[in-house]
Amino acid sequence: ELPARVRIYEVGARDGLQNEKATVPTEVKAEFVRRLADSGLTTIEATSFVHPKWVPQLADAEQLFPLVSDLGRSSGVHLPVLVPNERGLDRALALGARHVALFASATESFAKANLNRTVDESLAMFEPVVSRAKAGKVHVRSYISMCFGDPWEGPVPIHQVVRVCKALMDMGCDELSLGDTIGVATPGHVQTLLAELNEEGVPTSALGVHFHDTYGQALANTLAALQHGVTTVDASAGGLGGCPYAKSATGNLATEDLVWMLQGLGIDTGVDLARLTATSVWMAERLGRPSPSRTVKALSHK
Ligand code: HMG
Ligand code: MG
Repeated sequence: ELPARVRIYEVGARDGLQNEKATVPTEVKAEFVRRLADSGLTTIEATSFVHPKWVPQLADAEQLFPLVSDLGRSSGVHLPVLVPNERGLDRALALGARHVALFASATESFAKANLNRTVDESLAMFEPVVSRAKAGKVHVRSYISMCFGDPWEGPVPIHQVVRVCKALMDMGCDELSLGDTIGVATPGHVQTLLAELNEEGVPTSALGVHFHDTYGQALANTLAALQHGVTTVDASAGGLGGCPYAKSATGNLATEDLVWMLQGLGIDTGVDLARLTATSVWMAERLGRPSPSRTVKALSHK
């Protein structure tokens, strides 16, 4: 049985833009976030409070967040931001962020490449972030990257993923997002991982899925997750994205492709597909290249 409603967790402004070669002006980013909210998205990851040398594309987080934070207060839109450590949390809290997202790794190679830490060192780095955020009633998500395959290590054993997920839940995270960072997952693998997590005490209600579309499996993987009871799905408007520290990562599942499928299944998302498509076409013009989303192409060539 499929869920009646799905929460789309929009990552285009963060996962999408962090990987663009072109520098996108701060005002354009702010307008992108506003247009995403206008199209009915209610959870829009805005930016990252990471080291500016590591992700120069999002070095304007201090300037951007105040340009959009009124959306959180007036329209009830959630604007999560990435924070890797206490320094990131301090920066986010100083601007009034109420939703933060950590990013852990299921593999040692990616923990080193993305966080300059071992898996356990990164979990230790997150612990005070979670406890301080929770004390301040700030919502905490954590991503787990490389849940299926890793560009250096190959297929990732499920027990490695389960261990990191359990540690993050024990720490007090409110929700987790299972990242297929390089887009190698297939539906059977998704269902096996979800079942194993349940078996180990991690409830489906705490789990979201984060697919990249490298092999064109992102929608199939999403359907497999919905059939398992998952109701939070990450997606990126126009299919923007990738990851600067995982070379083989291509774009995220496009939000338009997701909405098209969910509409067909009669699942409510609250998103106006025409408005969203217009936003992605607008953003693609700013980036100087067409959206890779099949749905954006189909709907914008009428
Ligand atoms: P490090 O070099 O080990 O940092 O980097 P450190 O703790 O040794 O500190 C070194 C200096 O950086 C210090 O300054 C800190 O203050 C400063 P100094 O005292 O030398 O002058 N610093 C900071 N400055 C600003 N903001 C901060 C911050 N932290 C330290 N937050 C660090 C460690 C985690 C900072 C670095 O590795 C980093 O910023 N990594 C971010 C990588 C990233 O953003 N990757 C993309 C997001 S993850 C992703 O895309 C995957 C996802 O989509 C899911 C999926 O698809 O799998 C989420
Ligand atoms: Mg990602």
